[in-house]
Amino acid sequence: MVGKLIKKIFGTKNERELRKLWPIVKKINEIEVSLQSLPDEALREKTIKWKEEIASIKDKQEVARRLDEILPEAFAVVKNACRRLLGKEIEVRGHKVIWDMVPFDVQILGGIVLHQGKIAEMATGEGKTLVATMPVYLNALTGRGVHLVTVNDYLAARDSEWMGAVYKFLGLTVGCILHDQPPSVRRQQYACDVTYGTNAEFGFDYLRDNGMALFAEEQVQRGHYYAIIDEVDSILIDEARTPLIISGPAVVNIDNEVYVKFKPAIESLIRAQTRLCDKFLDEAEKLYQKLHPQDGSNPPDAEKLEHEIGLLLYKAKLGNPKSPKLLKLMENPECVRLANEAELQLHADQSKRELYAQKEELFFAIDEKHNDADLTEKGRLFLRPDDPNAFVLPDLITAYHEIDQNPNLDPLKRVEAKSKVQEDFERKSQQIHAISQLLKAYCLFEKDVDYVVQDNKVIIVDEHTGRLMIGRRWSDGLHQAVEAKEGVEIERETQTLATITIQNYFRLYEKLAGMTGTAETEAQEFFDIYKLGVNVIPTNKPCQRKDFNDSVYKTKREKFNAVLNEIIEYHKQGRPLLVGTVSVEASEHLSGMLKRAGIPHSVLNAKYHQQEAEIIARAGQRGAVTIATNMAGRGTDIKLGPGVAELGGLHVIGTERHEARRIDRQLRGRCARQGDPGSSHFFISLEDDLMRLFGSDRIVKIMERIGIEEGQELQHPLLNRSIENAQKRVEQHNFQIRKRTLEYDDVMNKQREIIYGFRNEIIHAEDVRDRLMDIMEEVVVLKIGQYSSAANEPHEWNIRGLVDWVNFNFPLSLTEKEVIDVALSSHEEPVPGSLFDGLSAAQFGVCVYIINKIREAYELKAKFEDPENIKKVERITILSAIDKLWQEHLYYMDSLRNAIGLRAYGQRDPLIEYKAEAFKSFEELMVNIKTEICHNIFRSATSLAAFEQFLRSLAQQQAAQRPAPQPMQSSPRSQNTNKSDMVDEVTQEISKGRTVRSGPKVGRNDPCPCGSGKKYKRCCGR
Ligand SMILES: Nc1ncnc2c1ncn2[C@@H]1O[C@H](COP(=O)(O)OP(=O)(O)OP(=O)(O)O)[C@@H](O)[C@H]1O
Ligand SMILES: [Mg+2]
Repeated sequence: MVGKLIKKIFGTKNERELRKLWPIVKKINEIEVSLQSLPDEALREKTIKWKEEIASIKDKQEVARRLDEILPEAFAVVKNACRRLLGKEIEVRGHKVIWDMVPFDVQILGGIVLHQGKIAEMATGEGKTLVATMPVYLNALTGRGVHLVTVNDYLAARDSEWMGAVYKFLGLTVGCILHDQPPSVRRQQYACDVTYGTNAEFGFDYLRDNGMALFAEEQVQRGHYYAIIDEVDSILIDEARTPLIISGPAVVNIDNEVYVKFKPAIESLIRAQTRLCDKFLDEAEKLYQKLHPQDGSNPPDAEKLEHEIGLLLYKAKLGNPKSPKLLKLMENPECVRLANEAELQLHADQSKRELYAQKEELFFAIDEKHNDADLTEKGRLFLRPDDPNAFVLPDLITAYHEIDQNPNLDPLKRVEAKSKVQEDFERKSQQIHAISQLLKAYCLFEKDVDYVVQDNKVIIVDEHTGRLMIGRRWSDGLHQAVEAKEGVEIERETQTLATITIQNYFRLYEKLAGMTGTAETEAQEFFDIYKLGVNVIPTNKPCQRKDFNDSVYKTKREKFNAVLNEIIEYHKQGRPLLVGTVSVEASEHLSGMLKRAGIPHSVLNAKYHQQEAEIIARAGQRGAVTIATNMAGRGTDIKLGPGVAELGGLHVIGTERHEARRIDRQLRGRCARQGDPGSSHFFISLEDDLMRLFGSDRIVKIMERIGIEEGQELQHPLLNRSIENAQKRVEQHNFQIRKRTLEYDDVMNKQREIIYGFRNEIIHAEDVRDRLMDIMEEVVVLKIGQYSSAANEPHEWNIRGLVDWVNFNFPLSLTEKEVIDVALSSHEEPVPGSLFDGLSAAQFGVCVYIINKIREAYELKAKFEDPENIKKVERITILSAIDKLWQEHLYYMDSLRNAIGLRAYGQRDPLIEYKAEAFKSFEELMVNIKTEICHNIFRSATSLAAFEQFLRSLAQQQAAQRPAPQPMQSSPRSQNTNKSDMVDEVTQEISKGRTVRSGPKVGRNDPCPCGSGKKYKRCCGR
């Protein structure tokens, strides 16, 4: 009811909004007529004039206002350019294409919606590619670069060439980002007025520019002004579940052997569980016969029997949900009901004692909905009967404490004892972790569904699109576990070097718009996350598609037989068929059936975009049968062959309902484009994951009531509704997951902005020496605070610690006596509000003394350096510290996310915990980055010779200042070990003509990155 109401409101709101736009369309058409008499040159001149004019406007809002103003004329110019191109030959992806398009009114309407920063829902085949040219042209007049985002490289290249004809005609430049381009080429493409590319390429370029580039010349993008996303639902919703990640070898390496070692144990555990569950099922079958005796009588203990059967089935489901035996029993709706009732009853009990007891009969419990598998006590004993403590982690803090308290241990022994405890801890936790990941790999990850094995590698299959995600790895050891399971080579653990979610990448744009055939069902999410409204644009010609009711079967087997029969029947009539599947496995299964039936067909798995696009383009020919996962050939037009329209057009068959209604609508929309005839029909079985996991009891009840026979199909509009409700539930569930991912990434996002901001400042600064010295000062103040206190007299300070720290980091040969002398003779208080605020006069004096000495030493050092290169070195000193520690931080944050998941048991909101921890560790990160930078100031040089010269000169200077040679000897470390070691990797990298990484800092007066709203110096920067 409510849904209908909302839809009604939505509908009218949509109509209201569109009604306002129609007069603009009319105006555009009028202007276009007047343009027809102009020479070509006159059109191009308009582009130039507008560009000049808009470039002169500085205020962004003013620019936006002006664009709105010229919209009608600009759109008319594009439409007119299309007209002038009619009949011209264009080369698109190696084929000659004759231009034959002038935008229809509905396309102009869609273009206006895109310009307004909204999503235009336009059915497949309505010509969205062309729609985009109008807002792209208008917004490109700003010269700030408009990005058009596509779902794959092929479409990016195709559309940039195809639509490029219009832009070029009008005097705009067009670029396209493709996978293998080097940075220099990419920069050129981004410099164009319009740039086509996939979301991954845009996102990765952003990460490389901001997280990895060391010099401005290495950066390729030039800001994020306006993006139009084609197939926006696929990108902002389906792809948004997995963040973009640039990874490299892990800093911490986990021993991969442990996966191999436990593999046999896990395999026998799984066999034991299978046997156990089979036993439960046999038992359940026996009881079922008792419940329904042959004579048809009603047993007196029917209720008890029912409960017992339910429990047995529930346990079997928990232990081995995909067991064929179980699935067979569950074909009987009564069994489904009994199992559901038993489960409900167990969960209804507050104490969950009985639930727990039932679970403990198993070796492990599988939770398919949450993708989790958990060992029970019984399972643990099975795996390690010899060692009951194998799964108990030692309490490190207590153990350390005991070691510290043990009077029999000398310091060396204590260290040894502690490292033994530590090792034991690490070994055990690795084992526990590996076992749990192996269990998941075996129970929840199915070959050819979740992944495929190719060339001795495990490749993830995207569950929504069926595409192979080459190069992506599951994190946290799961990938290694699956590799162990499949017996392929186990690859090294990788870690995140830079990452961003799709959501946060696209939020960078000042203006965003999107187009797709299917957005309406996800309108809420688009609005919540991206603030994108949706407008549904009417089709150019009325849609003629006939959608049949869904056909429901009890088993997959029956369903596929029915699909096959329908294919044979339509194929006989000569009608082309497009059969959609939700997985590569289903495609292959069906393909096998078609082969046996002798029906020629093609199978597309969204692997080879260009080839598949060509095949799908022919899918509308007479007699063609095409099987495709839902992303295969998306964006490619299916034109009907001669005579096909008379037969009824393309027939689309869905072999399963997808989790999201949107994807089903997308499949349906492949036929009946531009007013063509066409039809669609979905087939479902109760064994489909969607029905098994999310199907309501209602469907089961309907089935039970009607009592369908083997092979019999069920069709009813009511069923369509129930199925749709199941889909809505899953959509909600998935939305929550994506929202959660985003909430977690939002924490990272703030941190990323600060770090990237800091980095960029350093990269773009003319001269970073001031920053370097500022950082040094901050760190010295921080260290003074650690080794001394305003409340204590100088002789109570840890002066040795301070002097050691200074001499370790800077070539000063500072002595304790110097510090004491300075401290005792200083009486000036620091200026309130300055960096030194809060220090005592003595502390302040020492601070200034040390800082000045460091500055002097640095100036001396700089004298010997190559003046151009020293700038580079300084930049890299900062950047390398940032990058190194930021990556370690990312690694830590990854593991934090995983660890926090477990804390949810403690009744605390894991997100809040995560935020608190993330905040704390970011504070530490900022301090560590600065300390690291400080540490490296004197450890880098433009050349070894310059450095040696500096050291010699420094020694002379110090000797001159302090006639007694004694200080030099008193701190031999600073002379020998330190200084000669100082030229380290930074210098080496420089001499190789390359650079290492660096990092940024937050200004003391900037708002604190943690989001507290305070100034940084009053918050994390204290
Ligand atoms: N104004 C027009 N006049 C004539 N043909 C057009 C026009 N606009 C688009 N077309 C044709 O319609 C077909 C579909 O176009 P396009 O691929 O852009 O559709 P789409 O909306 O992007 O579909 P999909 O959802 O499949 O990506 C193309 O063959 C194109 O040439
Ligand atoms: Mg398209």
